[in-house]
Amino acid sequence: MSASLPPSVALNNGLQMPLLGLGTYKLSGPEEVHSAVDAALAAGYRAFDSAAVYRNEAHLGRALKQLLPKYGLTRKDVFITSKLGPKDQGGKAMEGALHSLSQLDLDYIDLYLIHWPGTQGLPVSDQRNPGNRAQSWATLEELHGQGKLKAIGVSNYTPAHMRELMSSCRIPPAVLQVEFHPRLCQAGLRSVCEESRVCFQSYSSLGKGELLADPLVIEVAESCKRTPAQVLLRWAVQQGVPVLPKSSNPERIEENCRIFDFELSKADMERLSSLDCGHKYCWDPSEVA
Ligand code: A2P
Repeated sequence: MSASLPPSVALNNGLQMPLLGLGTYKLSGPEEVHSAVDAALAAGYRAFDSAAVYRNEAHLGRALKQLLPKYGLTRKDVFITSKLGPKDQGGKAMEGALHSLSQLDLDYIDLYLIHWPGTQGLPVSDQRNPGNRAQSWATLEELHGQGKLKAIGVSNYTPAHMRELMSSCRIPPAVLQVEFHPRLCQAGLRSVCEESRVCFQSYSSLGKGELLADPLVIEVAESCKRTPAQVLLRWAVQQGVPVLPKSSNPERIEENCRIFDFELSKADMERLSSLDCGHKYCWDPSEVA
């Protein structure tokens, strides 16, 4: 096990969230999820990020039940995130969130996010999208009030979606989770989050693995005797941005955890940030009304 656990950040409701969590997108089947969670707990991960659309909430819940005792841990030692699927946006949000709770077999979820600003089955430009996500947010607020969702937030929102939410919510979002890496520095969203005290969290910090072959990333990795993945993850956490690298490979899961025992120089941080070109490897929410 790692000598020390990854540090945490305080969310705007006081809850502590680890700066590193295991992303589980594309982890499928009970065995793959079990072995990834086992490797992650052994390495020192204490946060796990799932979603209704990943179809692995039940596998994650079961793996945690089986594995926490092996590491002398209990439910309160881990931070579990899941997300409301776009098919449940609006009128089905309560059903969707309760389904996540029952799939994970948990009494509460630490952080629950609206996964996407749009609604499955509606065109992105459909003017019902804003009303649907407002209804989802009101549902998340209600479940937060009941203690079933300890923190609530959103994912894949643009600055416009964030401003709309901030101007109408009763409880402000604790987290915005979006794609973030040196080719997509998200300056606009980061300043909205800073102004509103929303924690900006990264997914796809490795650019779906493609950034690992970037010549500058490789050069920086060689100069500090780390791997390209560690450099990309360090670049984010050194800015205080929590990361969620996904891997199904135990060695890579462990490698991705060793990012808190070295520092990138200011010059290397700036060189990496200069790769910013607004490139998205994942879905693009900019057209969602
Ligand atoms: P694998 O599961 O085989 O390790 P992102 O988080 O940006 O979406 O990137 C995830 C991708 O990067 C996955 O394909 C994952 O593959 C790969 N990956 C994760 N960690 C590492 C690592 N340390 N070295 C190389 N590839 C990695």
